[in-house]
Parts: sequence; structure tokens; C-alpha cells
Amino acid sequence: MKLAILISGRGSNMLALADAVRDGRIAGAEVAVVISDRASAAGLALAAARGIEALAIERHGGRTREEHEREMLEALRTRGVELVCLAGFMRLLSPQFVAAYRGRILNIHPSLLPAFPGLDAQQQAIAHGVKWSGCTVHFVDETLDGGPIITQHIVPVRDEDTAEILAARILVEEHQAYPAAVALVVSGNYKVFGRRIVRKTLQGIKEAIENTFDVS
Ligand code: GRF
Repeated sequence: MKLAILISGRGSNMLALADAVRDGRIAGAEVAVVISDRASAAGLALAAARGIEALAIERHGGRTREEHEREMLEALRTRGVELVCLAGFMRLLSPQFVAAYRGRILNIHPSLLPAFPGLDAQQQAIAHGVKWSGCTVHFVDETLDGGPIITQHIVPVRDEDTAEILAARILVEEHQAYPAAVALVVSGNYKVFGRRIVRKTLQGIKEAIENTFDVS
């Protein structure tokens, strides 16, 4: 399965995914292209240094979102991309883009969704006073950070934490969670019950059915 990874900056999750593909932890996958909406994104150079095609598709010169997205979709289609992984990509995708890759766009967010969607999730968590936070890998739908959850990893929030310290602790988990979630999706070894993503084992499915629907 050909993957595209969309970034805007540092690219550490992109590297975690690329490493997992290279090491065979995401079986049957290939990173076809890394695309950034900022030519200055550090992650672009990191991808190129690993021999991955790295494209800057910027939204400059008064281009509309539609024009920008059309160019990205064109780049994805010409490379036969089947799964799009957002990794620190700082733009909201339009419903048209989501529809073009429905159920085939993933995102990683640095909080335990549905808590703290949007920007500055780690600062939001500290300001709210939660004692646990973490990261969420989810399918992308038309809502902001609201699609079905594939996996979550948790970390403690300590009294002395700043947003930066918490972000660093969460990032360690992001680099584990994202490859694991992509591996599950690529394997196809899951079922969807409404919003629930469950592993395709007989027991897992039986329990999910019983817990989701009233089967009595
Ligand atoms: C990560 O914290 C990710 O959860 C969020 O943006 C950040 C991207 O970091 N969506 P990086 O570019 O992957 O290092």
C-alpha cells in the first residue's frame, strides 16, 4: 500500500513512520511521497535525505484552498497513493478532499480526544488541570480532530510540567502510536462499528457488537 505523509514542520512523526516502514513494522507499505505546505519545513529535507520523494506544495500567491488541494490530490493520484497520513500538517482539509480519500486519511493529535481538539492541545491540557494526557491517532472526517479513534497512548501530567515538557513526553508516545495505528490500518485487520474501531478477532468483534448494540 502506497502512503503519503503530509507535514508542515519538524517531521518527527513522519520519520517515525518512515523508519517503521523501512524496518518492516508496517508490513506491506511504502512511503511514496512526503508533501509539505511549507517549503521551509525541516521534515522535507529529512525525507529527501532518506531517499523519499519530498514535495513542497505551498498555498502562495493568493491561491484558493481548492486550487491548493487540487494540486495535492493530483500529486497523490499520480503516485497511486492509497493512504494519507497527516503528521503535523497545519491545514484543515476541505470536505471535498476528505471525500476524495474517505476512510483513508489518518491524523495524530497530541491529546486524548475528544478532549482538547485544535491548536495548542498540550497547553489546553495543562490549563484545564487534567492529570493524564496523551495522543490519539484517528481517521479524518469533516470535523476538527473528530473522526473515529484508532489508538490512544497515555502519559501523566506532572505538577511541574510546562506545555513544552508535556509535549516532549507525549511525542515519545506519538512515535510509538502512529506506526502501530498505520500498521493496523494497512493490515486491514480491523472492523468499524459506528465510531468504534476494533481488532478483527472473533472475541473482539463479539464484545464490540454486544457493547455497541443491545443484543439482549
Ligand atoms: C505533533 O505533536 C502532532 O501530534 C501534531 O503536530 C506535531 C507534529 O510534530 N499534530 P512533528 O512535525 O511530527 O515532529
